[in-house]
Amino acid sequence: MLEHGGQLRHAAQHYNIPLDNWIDLSTGINPNGWKIPEIPATCWQRLPENDDGLLQAAAQYYQCENLLAVAGSQAAIQSLPLLYRRAKVGVLDPAYAEHQACWQQAGHQIIRLTPETIEKNLSHLNILIIVNPNNPTGHLFSKQQLLDWHKVLLARDGLLIIDEAFMDTTPAHSLSTLSPRKGLIILRSIGKFFGLAGIRCGFVIADTKVLETLEEKLGAWPLSHPSRYIATKALNDQHWQQQTLMTLPKQALRLQTLLNKQGLQVSGSHELFQWIKTNKAESVHQQLASQGILTRLFKQPESLRFGLPKNEIEWQQLEDALDKIYRLEI
Ligand SMILES: Cc1ncc(COP(=O)(O)O)c(C=O)c1O
Repeated sequence: MLEHGGQLRHAAQHYNIPLDNWIDLSTGINPNGWKIPEIPATCWQRLPENDDGLLQAAAQYYQCENLLAVAGSQAAIQSLPLLYRRAKVGVLDPAYAEHQACWQQAGHQIIRLTPETIEKNLSHLNILIIVNPNNPTGHLFSKQQLLDWHKVLLARDGLLIIDEAFMDTTPAHSLSTLSPRKGLIILRSIGKFFGLAGIRCGFVIADTKVLETLEEKLGAWPLSHPSRYIATKALNDQHWQQQTLMTLPKQALRLQTLLNKQGLQVSGSHELFQWIKTNKAESVHQQLASQGILTRLFKQPESLRFGLPKNEIEWQQLEDALDKIYRLEI
């Protein structure tokens, strides 16, 4: 199993700090997510139904009709490699590591790429997987660049998969509005922008044949009824979405400024996280953790990812903790 952010119980035990005393900055999940309303009893009691309005809400939000609801985009990440015969698969590195792991496990040949090496490797690939914007680097690929790569792959019956789990804050860069297209699969998540990672809901946008094959693979009722209910309401809540689109960039800038001020030069950023490449990553991670602040440590390349603090108390605690590290160092 790969490591992920958000393993708060493990950290609590390891650093002997009670669970409730932690500030979790280890994920890119919006800490001020969409507020869960009361859930009707029927959601718990009855099986979910496909025509409950979820797909209409998603079609409106993603501006595309061809979608399949899945139990988090992770469910698709795990299942897609099983649908294709052995292929040469290009994956970004660093990026969300589950892509590489799942395709490798299914017996495909992996070619690790950076944004700079994609172009010259494209002619060897059957499948290219792009995380856009990338996690943890924040790298945003242009629509035109992706369409060009898709065209090259499609000419050889290849496939472009774009993981848009973090795309909600930059919707103009999404290829969902230009979908479906043969040889193009887009993954979306309700976990990040909406801050609803726990309901395990995501979407696959692709041509009908891919969606039908994947649907069959995933089987009946891949999402729980409460999860469908919450996701439908969140996707329909345009007021909350507009407000959040306005506040997140300000929060991101505040975090970036705070980290830069403390000598942690930001190497890549997104509205929901900041990424810092530094050979002090492990030491900073540990010193913050010993003060009850969990960040996401990456070994390769050595780096740290900071998610957004939830409220003023957390902002202050982060500032104080960074200040303490800085003061200890000089
Ligand atoms: C880039 C990226 N894609 C997909 C996922 C999976 O998210 P979910 O299954 O909650 O949609 C994650 C989770 O961290 C991620 O970072």
